[in-house]
Amino acid sequence: MQSKAFVAKDGRKVVIRPPTWEDLEGLMEYINSLIDEKLDIMLTERVTREEEAEWLAERLVNVDKGDFIHVVAEVSGEIIAGAEVEKQKHRMSHVGVLGIGITSRFRGIGIGTFIMETLIEESKKAGLKILVLNVFDTNDIAKKLYKKIGFKEAGKIPKGIRKNGRYIDLVRMTLELS
Ligand SMILES: CC(C)(COP(=O)(O)OP(=O)(O)OC[C@H]1O[C@@H](n2cnc3c(N)ncnc32)[C@H](O)[C@@H]1OP(=O)(O)O)[C@@H](O)C(=O)NCCC(=O)NCCS
Repeated sequence: MQSKAFVAKDGRKVVIRPPTWEDLEGLMEYINSLIDEKLDIMLTERVTREEEAEWLAERLVNVDKGDFIHVVAEVSGEIIAGAEVEKQKHRMSHVGVLGIGITSRFRGIGIGTFIMETLIEESKKAGLKILVLNVFDTNDIAKKLYKKIGFKEAGKIPKGIRKNGRYIDLVRMTLELS
């Protein structure tokens, strides 16, 4: 995909582009900052440089193969967001599973919306027909973003998540691409 730029609600210039190997440090800082916040996301353990390098090497291969659409957002040279669509296989090869995260200092200024629109556009170009995602029922802001973009709740897995000894429902949302 081509890299693209937009101006966030606070006036900052944001560049959306595919990741490269040079993003290793930035991606590691980004993901560990999300993990440190103990958010309503799946990851729980900080990643080491070695783990992140292994993950990024594999991800870059999978992006090259067309199995993943992956974008990062950059502000003044800092990686401040990452998002992906994983293409499913076989009889689900028309389906992509989406995930997104933004560093805390950059939330609420339209970056999530812009990234979602970009991923939808790229998913259509890749021939996908349906996007699905999983979200903690307690993650109200994420659910608002997804609904605003057009995702609809497809169902819930009661107690699908356990966080700090407490059960949370896992909500599955879906968007049909026209
Ligand atoms: C969820 C997340 C991706 C949203 O991205 P974002 O850049 O903050 O979202 P946007 O600024 O584009 O806002 C999108 C919508 O979300 C809602 N929203 C955003 N911030 C909000 C806030 N602080 N309070 C209430 N609603 C909010 C609004 O409906 C907003 O639309 P609007 O501005 O047109 O009213 C981001 O908050 C995030 O990374 N959170 C932590 C990681 C996470 O939860 N990832 C999702 C896991 S499923």
